Amino acid sequence: MAVISVALAGRSYDVVIEEGLLARLPATAAPFLKGYAGGRPVPIVADTNTYRLYGEAITSDLAAHGLRPEWFVVEPGEDAKTWGVLEKLTDWLLALGVTRTDHVFALGGGVVGDLVGFACAVTKRGCGFVQIPTTLLAQVDSSVGGKTAINTKAGKNLIGAFHQPALVLIDPLVLGTLPDREMRAGYAEVLKYGLLGNAAFFDWLEANGTKVLAREPAALEHAIAASIAMKAAIVAEDERETLDRRALLNLGHTFGHALEAETGFSDRLLHGEGVAMGMVLAARYSARRGEISGADAERATGAIAAAELPAHLPALRLTCDGARLVDHMRHDKKAEAKTLPFLLLKGIGQAYVARDVDLTDIAAFLDEELAA
Ligand code: GLY
Repeated sequence: MAVISVALAGRSYDVVIEEGLLARLPATAAPFLKGYAGGRPVPIVADTNTYRLYGEAITSDLAAHGLRPEWFVVEPGEDAKTWGVLEKLTDWLLALGVTRTDHVFALGGGVVGDLVGFACAVTKRGCGFVQIPTTLLAQVDSSVGGKTAINTKAGKNLIGAFHQPALVLIDPLVLGTLPDREMRAGYAEVLKYGLLGNAAFFDWLEANGTKVLAREPAALEHAIAASIAMKAAIVAEDERETLDRRALLNLGHTFGHALEAETGFSDRLLHGEGVAMGMVLAARYSARRGEISGADAERATGAIAAAELPAHLPALRLTCDGARLVDHMRHDKKAEAKTLPFLLLKGIGQAYVARDVDLTDIAAFLDEELAA
């Protein structure tokens, strides 16, 4: 078991990582369930997959403790992060009589967490919520740190709020049912932590990545805990991404976002896969600028390829050129007026925000990579 605290003045909270946690929900979340003891329903949001897998067991576990859950179940996928679903969810929370001191439970991947977090940010000007992430990507990234959002026609995550959860419960056992492809996509974010700021963790992942991907309990728990410890420290330093600290968590995301946009944010390229390819491109571009050795860029690429994540741009079979990918980047919400910050590497474990990147050079680099 590991407990990692996210230290934020007045809004600190724990991330608890332990196998079997979900089966002990009434005990592990006891302080956040107290208010429902008088018979008011416990609001839990899930998607159809997580409801099918855990709905009945959670309902009967809570019933055994005199608690009655009320479920709001969404379709899996990004389509749940819309104004329409948000409206239905907030109406449902208000109809249940949720108060500002209550906690809503989010059981699912990043979509459920983002949606519930945002709904809780705006319901009664902010009520509490507990994250129970069920994908590796949500466990090591989106459930921690308080970024919440929905998507709009203009782009992904453009409407949202910083709203921290009150507790994050991570049960690595739930990853047993996660499809291998999603497991690998989440693992890209684990590798990201090593690459961005922890060379020793990167070394460990090179040696133990196959155990993590095979869900070997000790390796998996260590990988999740080490990732969250890094994220918690960064969020504590720079909660609102104003100091170039939290921005480091976007390593691979600017390139990756362009690739996701070009592939229509579809199953052709999962978010984590885009981040993986994006980290390869960030490493190779850093080598091209002479900031990282060719050997380190190869190491980064090798670790990503070893996890069977995309590490070779032509394999994505894109039909566009580098300039078009740069156009997608310009639409990235992180773009500033005239410059586009890029997360680059000075070494393994040494990411930094480069503000002097010439987008014409990026387009030329991408043309080279597309033809490689
Ligand atoms: N996923 C990046 C962040 O939480 O800042």
